[in-house]
Amino acid sequence: MLEKRFLGITDIKVSPIGIGVMMWMGGKGILGRVAPSITDEVKNDIIKESFAGGINFFDTAEMYGFGRSEANLAKALKANGIDDKDVIIETKWNPLLRRARNMRRTINKRLHYLDGYTIDLYMVHQPISFSSIKTEMKELARLLEDNKIKSVGISNYNAEKMRKAHEELEKLGIPLAANQVNYSLVRRNIETNGILDTAKELGVTITAYTPLAAGLLTGKLHNNPEALKNKFVMYRWVAKRNLEESIPLVETLTEIGKAHEVLPGQVALNWLVTFHGDTVVTIPGATKAYQAKESAGAMSFSLSKAELNEIAEVAERFL
Ligand SMILES: NC(=O)c1ccc[n+]([C@@H]2O[C@H](COP(=O)([O-])OP(=O)(O)OC[C@H]3O[C@@H](n4cnc5c(N)ncnc54)[C@H](OP(=O)(O)O)[C@@H]3O)[C@@H](O)[C@H]2O)c1
Repeated sequence: MLEKRFLGITDIKVSPIGIGVMMWMGGKGILGRVAPSITDEVKNDIIKESFAGGINFFDTAEMYGFGRSEANLAKALKANGIDDKDVIIETKWNPLLRRARNMRRTINKRLHYLDGYTIDLYMVHQPISFSSIKTEMKELARLLEDNKIKSVGISNYNAEKMRKAHEELEKLGIPLAANQVNYSLVRRNIETNGILDTAKELGVTITAYTPLAAGLLTGKLHNNPEALKNKFVMYRWVAKRNLEESIPLVETLTEIGKAHEVLPGQVALNWLVTFHGDTVVTIPGATKAYQAKESAGAMSFSLSKAELNEIAEVAERFL
């Protein structure tokens, strides 16, 4: 079983694999076109399977239905009787067309939707806003001081911007806990564009989002390309683009998985959180209970050095 690890140099410990609940914003109307409708029973079962398998952290955001995903997460945690102290929750402020001071105006909304659960990590969702990184980091420091949040992070920041955020926080004596970025075996650019090296150098955790390439790395879309039709349009393009090219990779994941009696998607997740030591954690999405069970199960075996390297080699084309 892979051990829990610290978020950056904070004292917050997370399982190497968490669960992303972006899709829990769905339902009716416009959001229903992006995300599926998931019943309360299924959401409750996803939480149950997650905890049963050793997962202790969940990722959500203001952007995910403007509070719907956050509220649904809190509701399902409550339904499972999960105490605040036993769960790590990360959520994100949406900076688009806003100034940093908007954070203090909207933080109570976030806390309201989270219904008594603590914001263990609060992130700026992406770097585009009307305020500078310096002002945003100062605002996050203020939320920390006011005890509204427990740690500070960023998302979708490049190496240079991550360094700047780290520098501004360091002046205030605050660690930058994490940078959440798109990272999977079919999207490995953080290994070459400086993000991963900078994170290692600064002691910042990388939280890999879209780690299964929206399900592609489970092999299910190779087995049934028709299923692509049900995917949100953005994911459909990316999956289509990588479908052919990822065949050798999925074959390797399947072969290595057989030796450990696990599935290709589980091998892909395990690789992601072990190949670079403790630097990377990940948050696969789950819309069904079996998915949370399988994601948690990805922490239950160890890949050998030779297997880790073989996977890295066959996925070299995605660097
Ligand atoms: N910071 C950012 O800008 C950002 C951007 C995107 C995502 N995120 C975060 O990252 C999380 C995960 O990303 P993601 O949903 O984009 O991609 P992902 O984790 O690569 O894919 C999740 C999808 O893969 C399928 N899946 C999961 N486990 C499976 C299994 N065991 N077997 C078969 N299929 C499985 C499901 O598809 P079906 O629903 O079709 O079954 C699920 O919805 C999000 O929930 C969100 O919290 C952050």
